[in-house]
Amino acid sequence: MISYFVWFNFITRSLKGPRVWPLLGSLPGLIENCDRMHDWITDNLRMCGGTYQTCICAVPFLAQKQGLVTVTCDPKNLEHILKNWFENYPNGPTWQSVFHDLLGEGIFNSDGDTWLFQRKTAALEFTTRTLRQAMARWLNQTIKFRFCPILKTAQLEAKPVDLHDLLLRLTFDNICGLTFGRDPQTLSAGLPDNGFAIAFDRATEATLQRFILPEVVWKLKKWLRLGMEVSLSQSLEHVEEYLSNVIKTRKLELLNQQENGSLQHDDLLSRFMKKKESYSNSFLQHVALNFILAGRDTSSVALSWFFWLLIHNPKVEEKIVREICTVLIETRGDDTTKWNDEPLMFDEVDRLIFCRMVHSCPQDRRSHIRYIQRAG
Ligand code: HEM
Repeated sequence: MISYFVWFNFITRSLKGPRVWPLLGSLPGLIENCDRMHDWITDNLRMCGGTYQTCICAVPFLAQKQGLVTVTCDPKNLEHILKNWFENYPNGPTWQSVFHDLLGEGIFNSDGDTWLFQRKTAALEFTTRTLRQAMARWLNQTIKFRFCPILKTAQLEAKPVDLHDLLLRLTFDNICGLTFGRDPQTLSAGLPDNGFAIAFDRATEATLQRFILPEVVWKLKKWLRLGMEVSLSQSLEHVEEYLSNVIKTRKLELLNQQENGSLQHDDLLSRFMKKKESYSNSFLQHVALNFILAGRDTSSVALSWFFWLLIHNPKVEEKIVREICTVLIETRGDDTTKWNDEPLMFDEVDRLIFCRMVHSCPQDRRSHIRYIQRAG
């Protein structure tokens, strides 16, 4: 007992930020503020001048392994971590083992050469005009033929809509089209349930639950097939079966395409497949899943927050409408009745400065290999 408190005092003496309790670390504060977690972290950062260290698990050995956390929003620290010394701050083994069942060695869950190769392939593709065109095509079709009609019907019937749900469906359909060329149409009249979308959501939620528990506990639960681990493995089976069918079909189509020059596929999966023929189905599945995770919730959450902010700031809304009008007068002429015929095209959106302002990724997490003193 005495030696624990000697250790506890030693470890917490230099920590700033929220109160750290014996054994429980800063978890009580986190639990108390779980419905305003980002606000709570922002309050802590403000109180500590932009950076603090805390302990989320005040247990000897565990604390050193994964309990001590540095939280920062200081631009100099961010530059140090994400740019100058990027190799020193990988995802790390804890993160990788939590996400491995869902994301495999995909771009979000890999470091070193595996990450670099996928990053280069993706970065190369993201600068191509054809990918941008594909992205605009998938999105515009969904907005024009499904998103706007649903809003129109709700308006005519004077019924409320769950905008966040609609946006989640919109970005899910869009990212599936872009990633593997198949639109699951979760955004359509009646808002149908979709097995793949549900399984993907369940798998993500169950994976995130692993973060709450110490590694040995969730691994034991996985081994014993208990709780959310059961849901995770069932959902993953569903997701894998769905994607495996997509990949098998696409491989055949690409083969036929080479033989008789038929239909061209411009989705990300086909682009990865065309780079090298021998990727395993499992690797390609993980490439697809990583892109779905990357592009779905990020975009829908950004859009939901965007509209929420607009509702609360009518002056900004007015400025944004004015900015859109300035662009549309140049690109579509001054007959405003035709402006709503088609959603905005990529080049039009590209000219809107306000679109670059919203960034809704509140937290990013990195581990570290060794201690490096930041320059400056
Ligand atoms: C508003 C929407 C988005 C936000 C806020 C956002 C935010 C981010 C952030 C913060 C990261 C860095 C993650 C890390 O440090 O590991 C990231 C990485 C990434 N994002 Fe996005 N993202 C958005 C949309 C998209 C979309 C639509 C796609 C794909 C079509 C995408 C693809 C990726 C990929 C592939 C990476 C991994 C890059 C790497 O590790 O090298 N993102 N995104």
